[in-house]
Amino acid sequence: MAPRAKAAKTARKSPARALRILVVSGPNLNRLGKREPHIYGSTTLSQIHTELAKRAAERGAAVDCRQSNHEGDLIDWIGAAEDDGFSAILLNPGAFTHTSYALYDAVKGSSLPTVELHLSNPDAREEFRRESKIAPACLGRIAGFGAASYGLALRAVLDRLLGESS
Ligand code: DQA
Repeated sequence: MAPRAKAAKTARKSPARALRILVVSGPNLNRLGKREPHIYGSTTLSQIHTELAKRAAERGAAVDCRQSNHEGDLIDWIGAAEDDGFSAILLNPGAFTHTSYALYDAVKGSSLPTVELHLSNPDAREEFRRESKIAPACLGRIAGFGAASYGLALRAVLDRLLGESS
């Protein structure tokens, strides 16, 4: 069988192979591990990314993990995600959660399922954190489980994409 036909057959047999998930973290999350560890824990973003890559690979998928402190970067990445071949987005927008209509528009304008995620539980914190501008554009939200929120969000989105949701 020609290599291309073989690859297509393999992809059909295990569709997870084709899945690429974009993981986007917003402002100040580059400082995880040092930043208010009593709230955000001691795990660094780099450790979270390594763990996600492992978990994704276990299910035949792949993650592309990015972080920026700049709103425009997040908007550009989300806007290009479908054309770039991603199947879903995991998004921790940091404080832009509570302020950014532009990020809401970017998520709303993307046809990809997007999961909003947070390490802390914003609803249990200061009043201003109780509003998410992004939530109405998202498939769902996972918050409050520390670094594990990332892994839980990955699991939720892969279950959905692979038709394994209960
Ligand atoms: C956060 C929660 C936000 O309110 C905050 O501004 C962050 C981190 C979280 O992951 O818990 O920067 O998104």
